[in-house]
Amino acid sequence: MINIFLLGLPGAGKGTVSEQIVDKYHLTHISTGDMFRDAMANETKVGLEAKSYIDKGDLVPDEVTAKLVEERLGQPDIKEGYILDGFPRTLVQAELLEGITERLNKPLTNVISLEVKEETLVKRLSARFMCRKCGATYNKITKMPKVKDTCDRCGGHDFYQREDDKPEVVKNRLEVNEKMNAPLKDYYQKKSLLTVVDGERTPEEVFKSVDAVLSKKQ
Ligand code: AP5
Repeated sequence: MINIFLLGLPGAGKGTVSEQIVDKYHLTHISTGDMFRDAMANETKVGLEAKSYIDKGDLVPDEVTAKLVEERLGQPDIKEGYILDGFPRTLVQAELLEGITERLNKPLTNVISLEVKEETLVKRLSARFMCRKCGATYNKITKMPKVKDTCDRCGGHDFYQREDDKPEVVKNRLEVNEKMNAPLKDYYQKKSLLTVVDGERTPEEVFKSVDAVLSKKQ
């Protein structure tokens, strides 16, 4: 099994590289951000609670997030392994995850940190837009749909900008996440799980580096 945690600031390309990993390795992609957006769209209790944090660029409380992850990681569809995208984001979450993976006997095998400069992150987030129907991610500068106004994945025509990609929220999101990034890297470095990947390059080049790490695990 390959069980990955993808670490990276907002806009580092975690979602983008996750899609490429899933295509090649058939791992289960678990994005806490996507799970919260689904919950918000369905107006569930968790979704309504999460919205009050996410819309401001703050983190959802550790216990709420960890519970969601434990439920998801416990599902039987995870056969080849998993990618955790956006969890853990605090040291408390990292410790909670250790308990979860021990209970489920699904330990992390790799932590990959995507490193991208802040000015690049800001540019990427302000240019990102999403398909409302399937959640596919696009970018006004680097990744427009192949057919104008039509989603490559589902054919949908309704696109939107995430509330938390608006400039006033991005600043706080980056600040909140930057605080925890270095301690998390240290935590996984000490466990000899960490590989740092330069995320400034094209998505194809980034994936090549990630692939080189993962192919050693097979
Ligand atoms: P989440 O959805 O996880 O947001 P995030 O971590 O801020 O990450 P993003 O989805 O913004 O970026 P990404 O790294 O996936 O980049 P992407 O591939 O899309 O979380 C949202 C919120 O939920 C959080 O702020 C928090 O409130 C809450 N939350 C989630 N997890 C939580 C947790 N564990 N604890 C507490 N709260 C939590 O790429 C970005 C753009 O750049 C795209 O347009 C893409 O096309 C483009 N791009 C990507 N790679 C490249 C490249 N190599 N070159 C050029 N362009 C690129």
